[in-house]
Parts: sequence; C-alpha cells; structure tokens
Amino acid sequence: MTKPIGISLLGLGNVGSGLVELLHRKQDELKQRTGIEFELRYALIRDLDKRRRDSGITLTQNADQIFDDLDTDIVVEVMGGDQPAAEYAFKALQACKNFVTANKYLLAEFGPELLETAATNCCQIGFDATVGAGIPLTRTISNGLVANRIHRITGILNGTTNYILTRMREDRVSQDEALDQARLAGFAEPDASFDLNGSDVAQKLVVLGLVGFRTIVDWKTISRQGIESISSIDVGAARQFGFVIRPLGIISSTDGGVEFRVHPAFVPRDHPLATVDDEFNAVLLEGDAVGSQMLYGRGAGAYPTASALLADIVHIATHSESPQISGFQTQTAMQEDWSAQYYLRIPVPDKPGAIGKVAGSLGHHGVSISHALAAIQENGVPSGQVCILTHATRHSQIDSALNEIRDWPELRGSPVSIPILQASTDTTSPREFVPLGILDE
Ligand code: HSE
Repeated sequence: MTKPIGISLLGLGNVGSGLVELLHRKQDELKQRTGIEFELRYALIRDLDKRRRDSGITLTQNADQIFDDLDTDIVVEVMGGDQPAAEYAFKALQACKNFVTANKYLLAEFGPELLETAATNCCQIGFDATVGAGIPLTRTISNGLVANRIHRITGILNGTTNYILTRMREDRVSQDEALDQARLAGFAEPDASFDLNGSDVAQKLVVLGLVGFRTIVDWKTISRQGIESISSIDVGAARQFGFVIRPLGIISSTDGGVEFRVHPAFVPRDHPLATVDDEFNAVLLEGDAVGSQMLYGRGAGAYPTASALLADIVHIATHSESPQISGFQTQTAMQEDWSAQYYLRIPVPDKPGAIGKVAGSLGHHGVSISHALAAIQENGVPSGQVCILTHATRHSQIDSALNEIRDWPELRGSPVSIPILQASTDTTSPREFVPLGILDE
C-alpha cells in the first residue's frame, strides 16, 4: 500500500481550519480520483489552551517538530504576514519539505529566493492561493495558457475594496461603514490600509508578473493609487456618467518593458469587469493565441482559499516536478506616461468664476473636457464639487494640471483623479498569426 502524503500546517486560523475541514470532507473523493491518501500530521499554533474541535491533527507550538517530522511531505503556511512566516518557509524548504502558501507577501518579498531554495532542495512550491483565492489563476497561466504570450492582465484582485465600492454604490453607505462590513465578513487584511492603499494588489501583481511575464519587480516600487479618497460623490458621478468604479491591478507588456500599476478605474457598465461585484475577483487575461478571457470567482474567504491550497497539495502529490519558473528578469516597476480619459473631481469654492478657473487650468495643460457635472448634491446639500470627464490625456498632463489647481488656496479639499478603462482597447481578439502553409512541391 502506498504511504499517505503527510501534511502539516503552519497556522490554524480561519484558512487553516477551512483547509483541515476540506481535507476531511474530500479525503475519500480525492483517494478515488488520485489514488492518494492524505494524512494530517501537525499544526503549529500560538495558544494551546484555545478550544478547538478535534480534527485528528497534532497541535504543537514548536515549528521544528514539523520540519524534523519525517512523515511530513508538504508544509502549508497559513499564518500570513512577514515573520516568522518567511523564516519558516525557508526552513521548511531547507528541510526538503514541499511548500504551499497563501501568503502573497512572502512571494512578493522573497519570490526568487524561495524558488531558488526549492530548486536547490528538490522541492516544489505551490502558491496559487496567493492571488484570487479560489480562482486557479497561477496554474491557468502556467499550464492552460502556456501556449500564449500574455500581453496584458487586468484584474479586480482585492475583495475588500471591491466589496466596499459595491456597497457604497448599492447601499449608499460610507466607505467606513462598508469597510466595517468587510472586516466582519473576514475579507480585510489585519491592517486594512494594505487593502485600501493598493499594497495588497501590488503584492498580488508581483506573483502574476512572475508567472505571466517572467518578470520580478519590488512591489513597493509599483505605482499605487488606493481608494481612500473615493467618496459617495464619485460613486454617484460614476453612475450618472454610465460607469462603475472598480479597484484594478494591471500588468502590460509595452515596448519599454513590463508595466505594473494599481489604481481604481471608471469601468464602462458594459465591460465584463463591471459585472464583478462584492468580494468577487476577476482577471481579464489577454494572450496572443487565445485572445481575451476572464476568470471570475471568490477572491477572499476561508473555503475559497482552502480550495486553492488543496489544489496545490494534490498537484504536488501527483507530480514529481512543477513547471520550472526560471529565467525571469528583475525589473524596476516602470510606469509609462499612458494616455487615457480621466474622471476628475475638483472641490471648488462657492465663488464667481470658480468653475471657469478650473477649466482654464485644465486647458492650460492641454486637458480637454468632454463632460461635466457641477454642484453635485450629497444628501440634498450642494457640495460645491465639479465632476469632469476628460478626452484622452497623458497622465503627466493631468498631474501638472491638478498640481496647479491644488495650489489654489481657496480649494475646499484635494482633487480626485481616476482613469477610465476603455472597453474598445481593453478586450482583444487573438493576434493574427501567419498560417504555416504547405509548400508547393
Ligand atoms: N484582503 C484580501 C482581499 C484577502 O480583500 O482580497 C485576500 O487576499
């Protein structure tokens, strides 16, 4: 009889417990489908006194017990965060344990070193749960789309901010109220500023850049615009102009290299990404052979994440080797001076000529207005805001115009700028290939 595959967990919180339960529930089915039996060995926990359901797993506070256990074949890290998760990841690989993680920070911070340590110690790493939780993203890119050169990825990759923006639109609640709901539902990071300011998405883009573009960037250098400054006025203006606001992460291959950016965007209501509400994630992948395709599913939560972890575990148990991610290039995250239409909101003073002054500043920097709404009301009270849609404009022009406007002492707050995602250029058909014909004899 084949020896069961031993699994030990570093951490037994929400996701860890979800994985233990899923493994119990799926044990027989997995054995039927793969012929493999899984055995839960140890779980590293902080507090031995905490009451837990008996799941047949041995609880320990000593991580070395896991690394020294000869019957542990796969170590699953579900503690999250920086240390000691990073230290344990390297220790597990150095102890020749295969390693599966849901920790995007670990990959974003130490991706190349972890891959190298795994290769040196003949181990495999699974990290599909780090991006899009239950959506099989990294595996789809590495396996199912291996015949493609991916030229762009446009994703809603943060469940918390997508949930917040959805609730602000649907229930007309404030950003703070919506964040409280996301916290209660368990989507938000322990420090929710990582969700709000785009850092969570930047870390996930590093993982997608590695598998999709073989490019490694430092996540801290990725240009990030969060959703903090988005108010109910912007959500209402988006509705009036025919858009919804989505938190996006974008990687695209350009003539100058691979570009990474994180920002909210006005998405036209008929764009596929506009249908993705609440904590759902979706990723629009554009490959040269396949054209556009969108993967969609729950991007946060214990069971969706456990589903991806279990898929990695089964993959490792059934394959002696993972596809090698090697030959990747390290790059400083670049941001091109791209051209897009923009939404702008300027909180103007209630003074004669105020709107004219805004229009003058924009015109002075070559920014042309296509639509405008003035004196948008919030709860029936005029709020003195001018909301504008521009014609396609370079990012640098918007920046210089807004810098000039910001210097205006009477301004009632900070201007907001949000790029508009273009439906026509953001979904593509397969690239034209020249067919290989049969040569005339
Ligand atoms: N805080 C993250 C999110 C959890 O909201 O998407 C999943 O990575």
